[in-house]
Amino acid sequence: MTTLKPAAGPAPAPADGSAPPLVSVRDLTMTFPGKRSATGRRGAPVRAVDGISFDLAAGETLGLVGESGCGKSTTGRMLVRLLEPTSGSITFDGRDVTHLSQGALRPLRRHLQMVFQDPHSSLNPRQTVARIISDPLLVQGWAAGDARRRAAELMDLVGLIPEHIDRYPHEFSGGQAQRIGIARSLATSPRLVVADEPVSALDVSVQAQIVNLMERLRRELGLAYVFIAHDLSVVKRVSDRVAVMYLGRIVEIGDKKSLYEDPQHPYTRALLSAVPLPDPAAERRRERITLLGDPPSPAAPPPGCSFHPRCPKAQPLCKTERPALTVAAAGPATREVACHFPGD
Ligand SMILES: Nc1ncnc2c1ncn2[C@@H]1O[C@H](COP(=O)(O)OP(=O)(O)O)[C@@H](O)[C@H]1O
Ligand code: SF4
Ligand SMILES: [Mg+2]
Repeated sequence: MTTLKPAAGPAPAPADGSAPPLVSVRDLTMTFPGKRSATGRRGAPVRAVDGISFDLAAGETLGLVGESGCGKSTTGRMLVRLLEPTSGSITFDGRDVTHLSQGALRPLRRHLQMVFQDPHSSLNPRQTVARIISDPLLVQGWAAGDARRRAAELMDLVGLIPEHIDRYPHEFSGGQAQRIGIARSLATSPRLVVADEPVSALDVSVQAQIVNLMERLRRELGLAYVFIAHDLSVVKRVSDRVAVMYLGRIVEIGDKKSLYEDPQHPYTRALLSAVPLPDPAAERRRERITLLGDPPSPAAPPPGCSFHPRCPKAQPLCKTERPALTVAAAGPATREVACHFPGD
């Protein structure tokens, strides 16, 4: 298999964290207008993402987890500027990209790429693989012959047979189609790839192969990933750090190992208690935390801590005061938690 070097890749971040972040997100918010009812009346606006902040270093993978509807995809789409944020800021490589126009974004697009959940529906069925993978290159002004050669190299890189370059998406399995989606995302040697549930639509047997491929590509190409998943088990494999979202907010963020070993937020604890353990004896012993009900609507979030109606530890204070994301006194210094009563 070929190993492609990044065209203008960054140096990996030094381990001491002294490099400036590749991506800096501050108080990022996305509010969608409320849906119209049958009578034409507009519902309350939906605050899909509600003031989130985090940094991502070059070459780092941040896992983004939380139940369906908590704002993961909206966050991902803002990061690659498929959506323009309502407020807050996104800095990429030191440059504020929050409200850049489409024209001003064009030269940056090559560095901001996305892999989608359903490979087949995200690939144009009427285009050949050659066309699909080379399209981002043609947009960047590559000559057709060079783009085709690069597409064939990328197919090899992601474990596809380059001779299949003139086939159409329906001729590939789900796992192979996702490899095409990954090849397309890598065509322009991006520095950030947002992968939005890239394995959720695939057979379990294929999921590990795609996760392994993405990990290898990150090592070889020095990419930074935001890896979105609705459960914590897939994210465990790939992430350096993990952010847990609930109703548009980050409720806990920290380095993966410590977060999995010692979750501080009751919501993280509940999500983790649902992840099956490989050791059957440990699986029998462990305590499951069942969350009551579904997440509330982001159009009408509960006051105070928005998790309080479902939280096994809720106190009266939780109903009135929204907890800020901070380093918990008793928790690890590398962890931030939004809870009045974190820990055990
Ligand atoms: N284009 C849109 N218009 C209106 N509401 C939206 C739009 N996109 C997402 N939402 C709403 O925003 C919330 C977060 O959605 P999303 O980011 O897709 O969550 P997730 O990816 O975590 O499942 C949901 O309530 C969803 O219905
Ligand atoms: S602030 Fe209160 S309701 Fe919210 S997670 Fe912490 S204990 Fe639960
Ligand atoms: Mg989503």
